[in-house]
Amino acid sequence: MANIIINADLKKGKINKNIYGNFAEHLGRCIYGGFWVGKDSDIPNINGIRKDVVEALKELKIPVLRWPGGCFADEYHWKDGIGPAESRPKMINVHWGGVVENNHFGTHEFFELCELLETEPYICGNVGSGTVQEMREWVEYMTFDGESPMANLRAANGRKEPWKLTYFGVGNESWGCGGNMRPEYYADLYRRYAAYVRNFGDNKVYKVACGPAGEDYNWTEVLMREAGRFMDGLSLHHYTVPGTWAKKGSATSFEENEWFVTMKKALHMDEIITKHSTVMDKYDSDKRVALIVDEWGTWFDVEPGTNPGFLYQQNTVRDALVAGINFNIFNNHCDRVQMANIAQTINVLQAVILTEGSKMVLTPTYHAFKMYTVHQDAELLELDIRSPKYTLGDESLPQVTATASVDSEGKIHISLCNLSPNEFAEVECELRGTDKASVTGTVLTADKMNAHNTFEDPERVTIKDFDGAAIAEGKLKVKLPAMSIVTLEVK
Ligand code: AHR
Repeated sequence: MANIIINADLKKGKINKNIYGNFAEHLGRCIYGGFWVGKDSDIPNINGIRKDVVEALKELKIPVLRWPGGCFADEYHWKDGIGPAESRPKMINVHWGGVVENNHFGTHEFFELCELLETEPYICGNVGSGTVQEMREWVEYMTFDGESPMANLRAANGRKEPWKLTYFGVGNESWGCGGNMRPEYYADLYRRYAAYVRNFGDNKVYKVACGPAGEDYNWTEVLMREAGRFMDGLSLHHYTVPGTWAKKGSATSFEENEWFVTMKKALHMDEIITKHSTVMDKYDSDKRVALIVDEWGTWFDVEPGTNPGFLYQQNTVRDALVAGINFNIFNNHCDRVQMANIAQTINVLQAVILTEGSKMVLTPTYHAFKMYTVHQDAELLELDIRSPKYTLGDESLPQVTATASVDSEGKIHISLCNLSPNEFAEVECELRGTDKASVTGTVLTADKMNAHNTFEDPERVTIKDFDGAAIAEGKLKVKLPAMSIVTLEVK
């Protein structure tokens, strides 16, 4: 039995809706074929952007979308992606499969996509191979309202009004694909580049510095010490990889030991955030600088027969659990984590949507996102959990993880993940500080660990109404199916 106490009158801070953000890179079929098919395509589109994808993603209320990379960002020269499509230069996407990038999806198309999705753009600038001037001019191009070389160029390309741009990343993985830098060197470069990322008019840019990979606490230490006062956010990248980087494991063909290790590695996000946050506290005890987890998710071997550079993988109920575990962790760290962006929205890594030509399928991860929309901008509630163990061999993990919040209408939402693929979990939850007594819910679960949605069978793993919860005398009792996510609404 899992025992939970929720103090409905103890609010611990706002869960920034940006925790439910996404990431879309020029990688494989994320942009081309995923978001973008071009105006002349037979696939229904709005100025080249797929209609079915926009409709599906609007349901997720994606608050923020990171673009254009990733490793691609530090190869990207934004001026190649403006002006008449036919005269945009072609380039090689060296990181991702060496394919030709025709630059048909550029700044204007990205902002149009964001407008259609009603999402905030989060742009990552090029530090690795770009100049300070190039970065400065991009920000001027996007945000300056008036007479200037870049504003005039934007107007000549059909957009007189500037766009609003809040989130801007100064380089990506500068410790790796973004330049193989040492933290001391990047900290200085960050200070220089960021100085020229200007606030034009009343557009105030929120600057995100390249942060650590996984457990690199020294990177955080140096960045916070040398450049903390010049940044609004520090990024963190951490993927859930069940095997090694050379042999990560299959997305769909796995045994319980791989399920177990995937859950264990997903839970590890909690320790990573806690430790980076402790380092940040040394320099920023008020938590002014946010931790921005702008790449996270599962990373498996590519699907057999697909381009290894395209990072295309299927997505099962296991991925949904990884999403739920991470959402619970991000919510519960909402004092420091102000944004997270799953990698990546379509056809790449832990995608929420898969496409094939005109066909589209929503993954279990899509449904997990949908079930957690209720926590966006809600107030985190104090929650204490004592969970039974999920044991395999001589290792154990907590079987149940949870988060709770109260929204602006006073409705309480509790999300629970049962990590065991075999056992249901009984949960008894004491609801303190409220007399609300009615509960409804939804559930995402499956009959097999590797259950997934395909173009032929798109509804195998989907959200269902949940009737396994009841409240009596201030106690909420829940029976969680094996390998499930449940979100409850108490009102
Ligand atoms: O998401 C795929 C890649 O993973 C990104 O381009 C890079 O930033 C990270 O290494």
